Parts: sequence; structure tokens; C-alpha cells
Amino acid sequence: MRHLTAADLNGFERIYRLNLVNGLPGFKPANLVGTAAADGTTNLAVFSSAIHLGSAPALLGIVTRPTTVPRHTYHNLKANGCFTLNHVPVAMAAAAHYTSADFAPETSEFEACGFTAVYRDNFPAPYVAESPLSIGLRLLEEHAISNGTLLLVGSVEHVYVQENGLRADGTLDLVALGTACISGLDGYHEVKEPARFGYARVGQVPGSAGFQPAK
Ligand SMILES: Cc1cc2nc3c(=O)[nH]c(=O)nc-3n(C[C@H](O)[C@H](O)[C@H](O)COP(=O)(O)O)c2cc1C
Repeated sequence: MRHLTAADLNGFERIYRLNLVNGLPGFKPANLVGTAAADGTTNLAVFSSAIHLGSAPALLGIVTRPTTVPRHTYHNLKANGCFTLNHVPVAMAAAAHYTSADFAPETSEFEACGFTAVYRDNFPAPYVAESPLSIGLRLLEEHAISNGTLLLVGSVEHVYVQENGLRADGTLDLVALGTACISGLDGYHEVKEPARFGYARVGQVPGSAGFQPAK
């Protein structure tokens, strides 16, 4: 097994380090963040940093890179207060990836990359029509991280999910939805059916007292 230390990581050539460190968390969710500028120009950017922060109330976070250069997503979000997260359909992974290119502020990545912006239920941020699951969020908190990145916390106000992706127990069938996931900086994956194990209880762990296999 290769052993890499913090000193090794710091010493690596920049791109090598970027590739390696971006892969460390493992598979990440693939979302398109939809926002709108004050003049109505829409913006779309692929983000792999969406995280679940709590279910009641429903909170999700995204991490934005340092705002030392113009970040249209962040700028729009601050002005407008709302954003959308839209699962990347596997079939449109390439188009989703291209949204990360450095487009001019007056160019909408929706149009440039082949996505359709839709507004729903008077929410002020645009959703991606092609996405099988979209979420409307309101910016609630902003936390500065020591490296200049920002954790933006959003409260979930709306969820739109294709009927085939919502199971009777509330779990999401991401395989049926055709949602992609991401590895590193440019890897997009189609996922297989999961193995599911339900809520873990000590008694189900082989070798534990009163062991009973999960049904
Ligand atoms: C696979 C992938 C994942 C990305 N994830 C993030 C992310 O989580 N946060 C972020 O700030 N930028 C992320 N980016 C970069 C943005 O997509 C890129 O900076 C984009 O141009 C931002 O657009 P904006 O300036 O319109 O906000 C990612 C790019 C790629 C290719």
C-alpha cells in the first residue's frame, strides 16, 4: 500500500495534487446549481460538494471555491437569496461538465450547454427541466472555511422528483432516476442497484449478543 503524507501532498505538482486530493472523498453527488442574476440572466454550474446537513428542517449545503475571482453562482445567490440543485442525468453528463467552463457573465450555461431553464411555483431561481430531481433552496447561512472556501447552507423549500424515483418508504431510487455521481474533477459514473440493509441494529451484527440476521 502506498503511504502519502501531508508533506508528500504539498510537494506534488499542482495538477497531480488537484487530481489526487479531489478524489479522496470517494464518489460525490453530481448536481447542477441553478441561479439567476438581478437582470434575469440564468447561470448553471456543476457542483460535486452538495451535502446533507439535516432532515428536520431539511438543510443541504454546498461549498463554493474562494471568491477571489468572480463566482457567478455565489454572486447571484447573494443577490437573489435562492438557488436550485438539480441531479445530473447520466445521459447529459458531458453537457453538465461543460457548465464548469469559464463562461462570460452574460452567457447562460443553460443555453450554452443545452439545458432548459424552468421557473416553478413562483420560486425565483431556475430549475433544470432535464433533471429527474430538482430542489429549490433558500440561503440560510454562510460559513467561511479557513482555506477561503465557503459553506453555503440552504433550507429546502421545494422538491420535484419523477414519480418512478420515489419509493413507498420515502427512499429515492437514484438508479431509476438515472442520476450520475462524480469522482475527482472530471469522472462521471452511472451507478448500479444498491445493496440496502435498513436501519443498523447491534443485534444484526454477526457475532453480537442475540444475533438475528436482518430480514
Ligand atoms: C466535477 C466538477 C465539480 C465541481 N464542484 C464544484 C463545487 O463543489 N464547488 C465549486 O465552487 N465549484 C465546483 N466546480 C467548479 C464550477 O463548476 C466552476 O467553477 C463553474 O465555472 C462555476 O461557475 P460560476 O462562476 O458561474 O459560478 C466543479 C467543477 C467540476 C467539473
